[in-house]
Amino acid sequence: MKNSMIILIGPPGAGKGTQAKNVSASNNYILISTGDLLRDNVGKRTELGLKAKSFMDKGELVPTDLVVDMIKSELKKYGADKNFLFDGFPRNLTQNELLKKMLIDFKRDIDKVIYIDVDDSVIYDRLTNRRVCPKCKRVYHLKYNPPKKDNLCDDCNVSLIIRDDDKQDVIKKRLEVYHGQTAPLIEYYKGVNKLVAINGENNPQDVYKDIASAL
Ligand code: AP5
Repeated sequence: MKNSMIILIGPPGAGKGTQAKNVSASNNYILISTGDLLRDNVGKRTELGLKAKSFMDKGELVPTDLVVDMIKSELKKYGADKNFLFDGFPRNLTQNELLKKMLIDFKRDIDKVIYIDVDDSVIYDRLTNRRVCPKCKRVYHLKYNPPKKDNLCDDCNVSLIIRDDDKQDVIKKRLEVYHGQTAPLIEYYKGVNKLVAINGENNPQDVYKDIASAL
């Protein structure tokens, strides 16, 4: 069977990270999450992390050249002849063009774009109640997906954290950036018949089923 390249797209808090981890693990996809990679770099205080942090804390996009270099080295690391699931990349039309060029070198193309559709009115509740395990990156929600023990990761037993960019004013900025810069990719991929839209307001199990059947 031909290997495929899939993009997960959607507003902040749509459930991309939640779904990407399950979908990639169960369907043999290598997950490339630019948000997780950048946060790892911030945590390790690498040169990239130090450059990226100020943009991330404000809810702005990290400069494209930094992100594209990161993607190139991930593709080289795994070898491009695999199944890939991109979460959080591309983030605008420029990144999309650069991805397409990069994939020509690897004789690959984007096969499908899965758009997790969630209304802005749902986003604040999702993000202000999100908690994340700093060790395994598992994502929780205080109401919809709470940990078994108060504020401790079910898998690692370490204290959960609140992401630095899950503050009201930063969430507002992230939504503005999403609508201004990322949403045009939805129209683009609809136009080339590669877009599959999923209702992200269903429960996570149903969202998962819809994504798995779209793959
Ligand atoms: P990134 O980490 O990609 O953030 P994002 O796109 O804003 O998305 P989130 O991670 O906030 O949300 P999500 O959709 O993954 O939702 P989740 O599953 O956690 O990027 C962060 C920053 O990095 C950017 O702002 C930018 O600065 C930089 N960056 C990243 N990529 C870049 C790029 N390509 N170029 C430039 N800069 C880049 O779910 C959210 C909550 O909802 C959780 O609590 C979860 O439990 C809950 N939940 C999930 N699904 C459901 C459901 N169906 N029902 C109820 N609750 C649910």
